[in-house]
Amino acid sequence: MNSNTPSVVGTDLNPEKIPAHVAIIMDGNGRWAKKRLLNRIKGHEKGSEAVRTIVRTCREIEIPFLTLYAFSTENWQRPKSEVTALMSLLKNFLESEKTEMLSNNIRLNAIGQIERLPEDVRQTLHKTMDLTKNNDGLRLNLALSYGGRSEILRMVKQIAKKVKEGHIDPDSITSELVSEHLYTGDMPDPDLLIRTSGEVRISNFLLWQIAYTEIYITDTLWPDFGKDEFVQILKDYQGRERRFGRTGS
Ligand code: FPP
Repeated sequence: MNSNTPSVVGTDLNPEKIPAHVAIIMDGNGRWAKKRLLNRIKGHEKGSEAVRTIVRTCREIEIPFLTLYAFSTENWQRPKSEVTALMSLLKNFLESEKTEMLSNNIRLNAIGQIERLPEDVRQTLHKTMDLTKNNDGLRLNLALSYGGRSEILRMVKQIAKKVKEGHIDPDSITSELVSEHLYTGDMPDPDLLIRTSGEVRISNFLLWQIAYTEIYITDTLWPDFGKDEFVQILKDYQGRERRFGRTGS
């Protein structure tokens, strides 16, 4: 094993086949709470703990990029009390994890319509991103007020503007150019997308980027999702044959 090979100590994962980018649709907080006759917010609180566990595990296993769908553009339509609670959980998470991110070489990044977030959350977010910007370990990418279609619209507008101004020739527009104009422009596409709570849909997440991503759906509700299951999903991923549209041979 050379120094660039990921550390998989304590797991039976193949260090040569660690995904470069894992994306997760964290679903089921509300159902977790409902099953226990608790307020939905309690489910989100417990969900925040699962976020901490999975971030820590990605760092241990040396997965380079983790993207978490924390708040969608559609989530603004939830009751005001729930939106406020989610924003406050996010702020608490950023504040409480700052030290751990710094000492563990984690770089925080955000994708989505960050300008729509409340001022105090935005400030904390920018402060944490700035503080961790030179870290070159795990890139923790939080999708906040994120929607895949609005990301694509934003990219189309940016490219159209450059065409109009004469900076881009329409015939030279490639997939790479499109990718570069997305929020994830400097990241590899996800190798693995996990969705918890059993729903079999994409929910407007990373629409362009997941063209060849392996998908894993688990029935586990997000607050119950932990290291053991995550490692078992990575093991399943390592057993898959990725063909990217080609034949297996
Ligand atoms: C989906 O569960 C989850 C969300 C809309 C928010 C995800 C938020 C967290 C995990 C906690 C805060 C995030 C961070 C990064 C600290 P749901 O409410 O749709 O569940 P349901 O489908 O069972 O109702």
